[in-house]
Amino acid sequence: MKKRVLSIMMATAMIATLMMGCGNKETPASAPAADNTPAANTEAPAADTSAADAEAPAAEASGSLADMKVGVCIYQFSDNFMTLFRTELENYLIAQGFSKDNIKIVDGANDQATQSGQIDNFIAEGVDVLIINPVNSSSAETITDKVVAANIPLVYINREPGEDEEKRWADNDWNVTYVGCDARQSGTFQGEMIVDLGLEKVDMNGNGKVDYIMVEGDPENVDAQYRTEFSVKALTDAGLEVECLSDQVGNWQQDQAQSIVANALAQYGNDVEVVFCNNDAMALGALQAIEAAGRTVGQDIYLVGVDALSEALENVLAGTMTGTVFNDHFSQSHSAADAAINYLTGAGNEHYIGCDYVKVTQDKAQEVLDMVK
Ligand code: BGC
Repeated sequence: MKKRVLSIMMATAMIATLMMGCGNKETPASAPAADNTPAANTEAPAADTSAADAEAPAAEASGSLADMKVGVCIYQFSDNFMTLFRTELENYLIAQGFSKDNIKIVDGANDQATQSGQIDNFIAEGVDVLIINPVNSSSAETITDKVVAANIPLVYINREPGEDEEKRWADNDWNVTYVGCDARQSGTFQGEMIVDLGLEKVDMNGNGKVDYIMVEGDPENVDAQYRTEFSVKALTDAGLEVECLSDQVGNWQQDQAQSIVANALAQYGNDVEVVFCNNDAMALGALQAIEAAGRTVGQDIYLVGVDALSEALENVLAGTMTGTVFNDHFSQSHSAADAAINYLTGAGNEHYIGCDYVKVTQDKAQEVLDMVK
């Protein structure tokens, strides 16, 4: 019933070099040049719509899609961003003609062994296609091998497997692809929002540098590494001197970020001028710590995140966050579902399917809030 189609290779440059801690973070030799960073996209967000507004599926496809079984593995249900993603994914799959009963979404509970068992179960149940947000992107090779051996097409989401792994899919013409945004772009946007304020405004301690603290996401998602690296790179590319006061892993979690930032503020006090958080959940934790320390965003400290969660957008509007970056879960979930459909209909896919981030400062926050709410 399912026709396997050869896919065409599309190169994707990706560096999985993990660089932790403060200090000069050189771009790895093999990293893409600055010119390869996706162009800044500060235009209005793409008019992508939620599943509710999605176009009706093609009549010929929808009949058979209703009988297809989709297995979806999410690394952790409690993740705010992945909750938006999976909700939209399910709604969009249904809008395209899949039956709700045939879509099974499971929680990996941030444990690769648990998730691997779930994948084994999906294979045993004979699902027609798998959409996987791996707990450990470093486990992708093992996951791919067993899914491909079972002759099931596979769409990875959110946590990008390494370059070597993606090359295998192309080299072997496997029905395996990755859907996600290029996190370098989101990091660049974060840095640019600080650059745009001007050194005079940001350099409140007058040492001629941007003194910052960095709160990183779980290194199992390359987004954390890229956002860390490229946010700072945007500052240095703009000719600013930087001073990293603290750089710690908050694992994408609000509570962890709150205590990291509280400690950093206690240690470095007014020298902390900018707080970079790899996502909004952590920025919200950082904001709690900032307020508890009697500091005021926009006046004596600046704070940026990524994702454009509603709560973060409300803060950007109110001026209690300097900015965020829209991590377009509509576009990513729709593309993931479309990729699954393309495998099922025999149309096939490229091995990398990208999307753009959108920079969100106060003037754009309402527009994005209207879209995500
Ligand atoms: C999001 C984070 C999320 C992570 C999960 C990132 O792209 O920005 O909010 O926690 O994905 O892997």
